Amino acid sequence: MTAEVKRMLSEIGVDDGQIRSEAFGGGIATVATNGQAIGAATFTHSGKSVALRSGQTVLDAACSAEVSIDHGCRAGVCGRCKVRLLSGDVEMHASDVLTPRERTSGLILACQAKPRGNVAVEA
Ligand code: FES
Repeated sequence: MTAEVKRMLSEIGVDDGQIRSEAFGGGIATVATNGQAIGAATFTHSGKSVALRSGQTVLDAACSAEVSIDHGCRAGVCGRCKVRLLSGDVEMHASDVLTPRERTSGLILACQAKPRGNVAVEA
């Protein structure tokens, strides 16, 4: 829902730098939509791709591409946003809900995963 509100605010002309969000349950989620271009996110199930900006999460990118990824807390706590990273590299500040087996099988938390360049995600 937060991503949708941010998208709507952007559409009515609110500057991205003026949009802030807060997530409860473990941290503050921020969305940087005005960062430097770093590549593209490809969502293999939906067949959609979207440009990535530095600081943007996989979930933010999915929302902007209108790709549905289940999510809840946006703080790396609930684990509802687990998706498989098929290629590329991401940085995650919070990922304690992922088991070692999930990590080695390529699962990431879309709400926490910030791509370092081009990524392909199973969504
Ligand atoms: S939405 Fe809860 S961990 Fe990502």
